[in-house]
Amino acid sequence: MAEAKSKLRHVAIIMDGNGRWARERGLERSAGHRQGAEQVRVVLEAAQEFGLEYLTLYAFSTENWKRPPQEVLGLMNLLSEFLDRQLPQLMERKIRLKTLGRTDGLPEGPRRKLLQAIAATAENRGGTLVLALNYGGRAELVDAARKLGRAVAAGKVNPETLDEQKFRDFLYDPEIPDPDLLIRTSGELRLSNFLLWQLAYSELYVTPVLWPDFGRNELAEAIAAYGRRDRRFGGIKS
Ligand code: IPE
Ligand code: IPE
Ligand code: MG
Repeated sequence: MAEAKSKLRHVAIIMDGNGRWARERGLERSAGHRQGAEQVRVVLEAAQEFGLEYLTLYAFSTENWKRPPQEVLGLMNLLSEFLDRQLPQLMERKIRLKTLGRTDGLPEGPRRKLLQAIAATAENRGGTLVLALNYGGRAELVDAARKLGRAVAAGKVNPETLDEQKFRDFLYDPEIPDPDLLIRTSGELRLSNFLLWQLAYSELYVTPVLWPDFGRNELAEAIAAYGRRDRRFGGIKS
C-alpha cells in the first residue's frame, strides 16, 4: 500500500515584501503594511478552508526594531487595529490565537489587546493562528537556555538525561507542532531568524509574490507544491 503523504498540519509564513509593494506603486511603506494586514485576514480564511490546523505568521522580528520609529509605531498600531477588527471573526470561526516571541517587550496597547484576544479565544478548536511578534529564533533559544538553566539549578532537570524532546519543552510553545511547510514571500532566500529549531525539517517554498499580493490562490499553489515533495527526514524512500 502506498504510504500516505505527510499530512500538512502547520504552515508558517515569512510575510515579506510590504515595502516593495508600496514602492512599486509610489506609496508610503505604511500602505504596504496596511494591505499586508488585509492579506492576513484573507490567508487565515483560506488556511481554515484548506484544513490547516496551525498557521504561523512572522509579523515582527527582534531585528525589526532597527526600522525608523514611525514605521515601528505604525506596525504596532496596525496590530492593535487587526486585533480589534479580527477578534469577532476569530470567535465566529472558532480560531484560537497564540503568540511566539518576547511579547512582554511590545508596547502596552497592543500587548493588552493580545492578552485579551488570547484569553478570549483559548477554548476555540477550529484551528490556531500563531503570531510571531518580537520574535527571534536565537532569542527563543537563549530564552529556552535560561529556563533550562533555572530548572537544572532547582534540581528539576538532570542535564545528563536531556534530549531533543525534553529540550522542546523549554521553547516558547512546545504544544505547537513543527511547521510542515515554510513559505517566504518576495523572493528572499533566507530565514531571517525565524523558528530556527522548529524549521529543521520543514519543506521550504519561496515565491516572488509580494506579501500584499499573496492570497488564497497563492496559498493553494504552495500547498500543491508541498504535496509533490518527498519528505524523507534523513531516511530513504519507502
Ligand atoms: C514585511 O515587509 C513586513 C515586516 C517585516 C514587518 P517589509 O516591510 O520587510 O517589506 P520589504 O522587505 O521592505 O519589501
Ligand atoms: C522578516 O522580514 C521578518 C518578518 C517578516 C516579520 P524582514 O524584511 O525583516 O527580513 P530581512 O531584513 O529582509 O532579512
Ligand atoms: Mg522585508
